[in-house]
Amino acid sequence: MRKALLRKTKAMSCLLPNQSSLLFKPAITPTISSHHFLPKPSIFSLLTPLSARPQPQPLGLRNWNSRTQFRCLGMSSGKEVESISYLSQLEAAEIDENLMGPLGFSVDQLMELAGLSVACAIAEVFKPSEYKRVLAICGPGNNGGDGLVAARHLYHFGYKPSICYPKRTPKPLYSGLMTQLESLSVPFLSAEDLPLDLSDNFDIIIDAIFGFSFHGTPRPPFDALIQRLVSCQNYHHTGLKSTVVVSVDIPSGWHVEEGDVTGEGIKPDLLVSLTAPKLCAKKFGGHHFVGGRFVPPAILEKYKLHLPPYPGTSMCVRIGKLPQVDISSLRENYISPALLEEEVEADPFDQFRKWFNDAIAAGLKEPNAMALSTSAKDAKPSSRMVLLKGVDTNGFVWFTNYESRKGKELSENPHAALLFYWDGLNRTVRVEGPVEKVSDAESEQYFHSRPRGSQIGAIVSKQSSIVPGRQYIQEEYNELEAIHSDGRLIPKPKYWGGYRLKPVAFEFWQGQTSRLHDRLLYSPAEVDGKRGWKIDRLAP
Ligand SMILES: Cc1cc2nc3c(=O)[nH]c(=O)nc-3n(C[C@H](O)[C@H](O)[C@H](O)COP(=O)(O)O)c2cc1C
Repeated sequence: MRKALLRKTKAMSCLLPNQSSLLFKPAITPTISSHHFLPKPSIFSLLTPLSARPQPQPLGLRNWNSRTQFRCLGMSSGKEVESISYLSQLEAAEIDENLMGPLGFSVDQLMELAGLSVACAIAEVFKPSEYKRVLAICGPGNNGGDGLVAARHLYHFGYKPSICYPKRTPKPLYSGLMTQLESLSVPFLSAEDLPLDLSDNFDIIIDAIFGFSFHGTPRPPFDALIQRLVSCQNYHHTGLKSTVVVSVDIPSGWHVEEGDVTGEGIKPDLLVSLTAPKLCAKKFGGHHFVGGRFVPPAILEKYKLHLPPYPGTSMCVRIGKLPQVDISSLRENYISPALLEEEVEADPFDQFRKWFNDAIAAGLKEPNAMALSTSAKDAKPSSRMVLLKGVDTNGFVWFTNYESRKGKELSENPHAALLFYWDGLNRTVRVEGPVEKVSDAESEQYFHSRPRGSQIGAIVSKQSSIVPGRQYIQEEYNELEAIHSDGRLIPKPKYWGGYRLKPVAFEFWQGQTSRLHDRLLYSPAEVDGKRGWKIDRLAP
């Protein structure tokens, strides 16, 4: 039976030349990876952890004890302490087997997902405006393949990747990736061609050398490359250099379960664990993300994987604490097309509409969110966010509670300032002017266009007044909901309605490199005998 088993898995390994390092990375030392010895699992076998089944001891893992699922109190993110799962080497291999077997994934797919997750995590932490030049050092196996895919995605995200791939794998999957990168004119550098000090030439170095199946001592040329990474980080930690190291799944040279045993290994700035973190990641203190938004519930349940949910449509999620950030060092270098007087619209309402459409087209979340600043008679300003609900040449409209703080302030001083911030486009728009209430009919019409829940919420909330607790407003809401359960029109309360700000000034701001931002101020002026707008450039 064992022979039959071996034949079957041999056949499998021909079909799947190199399983993705999302879950399995080959050792650089010529050991035989566990998947060569593990039976191709059936759906049924998914129900029984491999570690609990009798099995041949995988050669490559012979020094390891199979551990059962290890869960520990994970690192906290903010106040929340969450339980994060960490995988042993055997479990990681086992999940790989399941994905590649009964769950129907191919190595190409897993590699694409791994590379995309890595690229997305990099883009979340290290923006291309500051960290453009990327070197991906790729090992000969799946980890290297993940690095190649990540580099290709990073190119499309606006980075400038280069590749060091000293031991190329002569398989169609890898040569295809190389062709794709070559078609993007991504340079391939030999280990000898690399500059002595990597931090002179690169802002980000991706360590895609070894994955979780690695054990033993790194061999040439990877031993020297790892040393180069370590020494370029030593510079970095003295604050003289800013090159960051990103490790794919495992920092190369680390023990998969024990971590950096000698204490002299790579200390990545960012670790992107694939599928779930391996045990060694418990010793890691930098930016830590997990990528693998494809793992089916069968795997999550079977291994009792506890991982935070992926936000929105993201391919990666941060786990663990955000490393200590020096607030004074946070800065963006904006790169945008120039905003020139001769290219903008003569009418600021048209210019606003144009930029607003750009914000919508860019898929920004709530592009109509704006900060509204008011002040009472005492001239002490206050700001809050509101949603723009209409704009035309008569002005900018939003709705609120007339008895709220803003409402009271506007009744004393009917002037306000609006600020739109469109992150991603590096743009802001400031609008200032007198404010008046919209007509009751207009408020009425908008009130009834809102979902019934929001209408009831607006009645319940005596906005800006002190309430005894959440429970109190929830009960008020429930009562009103019951009263209005007949589906009849809910009367708009008198204290709820809209305001309209009639602009007397607009400023369009476009972020530029080296803080040389564009600022164009529109003020009312007579133009060719007619009321129009003049445009002045302000110093950034
Ligand atoms: C994105 C966003 C949009 C908001 N839109 C509105 C709005 O349109 N009207 C409103 O009354 N409050 C809105 N709020 C809540 C306000 O920011 C604020 O908490 C509330 O109006 C009370 O402000 P005040 O006490 O200064 O009057 C919004 C909050 C956010 C974060």
